Amino acid sequence: MYDVLVIGGGPAGYVAAIKASQLGLKTACVEKEVNDSGKAVYGGTCLNVGCIPSKSLLDSSHRYHDAKKHLEVHGIDIPNLNLNLKKMMDRKNKIVSQLTGGITGLLTTNKVTPIEGMAKIIEPTKVLITNAKGEEEIVETKNVIIATGSSPIEIPSAKFDNKLIVDSTGALEFEEVPEKLGVIGGGVIGLELGSVWSRLGSEVTVIEAMDDFLFMADKDISRDSLKEFKKQGLNIELGSMLTASKVTKKGVEVTFLKNDEDVSESFDKLIVAVGRKPNSEGIFDESLEINIDQKGFIEVDEFCQTGVSNIWAIGDVVRGPMLAHKGSEEGVMVAERIAGKFAEMNYALVPSVIYTHPEIAWVGKNESELKEEGIDYKTGKFPFAASGRALAVDQATGFVKVISDKKTDTILGVHVFGPSAAEIVQQALISMEFGASSEDLGLTIFSHPTVSEALHEAALSVNNQAIHIGNKK
Ligand code: FAD
Ligand code: NAI
Repeated sequence: MYDVLVIGGGPAGYVAAIKASQLGLKTACVEKEVNDSGKAVYGGTCLNVGCIPSKSLLDSSHRYHDAKKHLEVHGIDIPNLNLNLKKMMDRKNKIVSQLTGGITGLLTTNKVTPIEGMAKIIEPTKVLITNAKGEEEIVETKNVIIATGSSPIEIPSAKFDNKLIVDSTGALEFEEVPEKLGVIGGGVIGLELGSVWSRLGSEVTVIEAMDDFLFMADKDISRDSLKEFKKQGLNIELGSMLTASKVTKKGVEVTFLKNDEDVSESFDKLIVAVGRKPNSEGIFDESLEINIDQKGFIEVDEFCQTGVSNIWAIGDVVRGPMLAHKGSEEGVMVAERIAGKFAEMNYALVPSVIYTHPEIAWVGKNESELKEEGIDYKTGKFPFAASGRALAVDQATGFVKVISDKKTDTILGVHVFGPSAAEIVQQALISMEFGASSEDLGLTIFSHPTVSEALHEAALSVNNQAIHIGNKK
């Protein structure tokens, strides 16, 4: 009998398993994905087909694009620059195997029992596991943590054929750079993978249903980043709903509705990235009192507990942003609660990053959300064009915006479009965890010259005390 059985070895599940074992609980982690030798492959979407391979290609494609287009200004000429896509893909695949192998090692070091197979909870303390050969085993456990993740959404107007019409996984594996690439969905995946292939030479068209670009981001970021991505060559069609697609000998023909008119386009490949759906089907017996909401998420309370007290669910399969770090933190919280400790998650401070170039990142609330909630606030903004370091590194596009409470000056949100946006937001987030005000950030010494100084200046600007830009009054 285990104390904890974790279903799913992604960043939510494997972290929960390691933490539970570290806390002295007898733990196993079941994973259905296996390699050629039948051993479980841990790491989930994030390590195998998500965060890591996409960031590897984003970095490689950025270097190629920089070498091709942006080094001349530094006085560096590279004649005969060539792309070796196979080598770029091999590098990505090597990083993935290194990291997934590393997780297997971590589970072993932490005394977590690995189990290969597809798991289904049949009773609160009994889990049926079916391995790749179809052999079944029932494992008993005091607690179960469901961490089964999510999968790409398929739409009827563009069904995946995994050759010409692909999901994000297929888009990480093209063997040639498509001449014309269509991307359905201008969300996080559409922009990141659209950028990868655009940098490598594809003519990319992003077809996005909403009229607003990046509707979940701060409005200034949506406006400025749309302008920048268009300048970079991404053709972004907003307010465009895909109505049909047809695979032909030459490629894919698509039709979308824009301003009440049918528009047709042909592409060599089509990536469909219109969101992901939770993997909640067939994970537990229907007799168990666990609810699934309309979108397929397993219903849990703020501590990730389901309707059955010893069954928990974490990561992409439950409400909240589908982000690796959110799932991992939930994993830690649940393991600690099972071990009888007090633990909670601060859902208000989960950071978001879009790894385009320049990067987009934010934490906390944006202006639209605060207006909707009727909260009075003040803002400070600093453009990277006024940052010495950003100019020196040739990355002076974008800005940092700090939003604080009008009365108390407590920081409510930080939004960055520009160099090292993710790292700058992380610094702000740490201060927010400690309840910092913009004045506190303004009183903090930042190294010079760093791009982070833009955060300092934006914080000073909230109270009209910026040094390197004009103040509001
Ligand atoms: P998953 O990682 O999906 O893992 C679930 C695991 O459970 C899988 O290994 C699956 O095989 C296994 N499983 C499912 N059902 C069963 C079963 N019945 N029995 C046994 N095993 C089962 N997030 C970020 O934070 N940063 C990023 O930069 C980022 N980039 C991304 C890029 C792409 C292209 C994609 C697709 C996603 C990206 N994400 C990113 C999102 C991130 O990958 C997910 O939020 C994260 O992987 C969710 O973790 P999880 O553990 O909940 O689920
Ligand atoms: P998304 O929710 O970010 O974007 C999907 C987009 O598709 C939306 O803008 C939506 O309006 C649009 N859309 C939906 N249906 C459409 C249709 N029929 N035609 C045209 N457009 C349509 O989802 P995405 O990009 O698939 O990513 C899934 C998840 O993966 C995200 O929620 C994100 O959390 C995670 N992810 C995170 C990354 C990061 O943290 N950097 C990177 C990649 C993915």
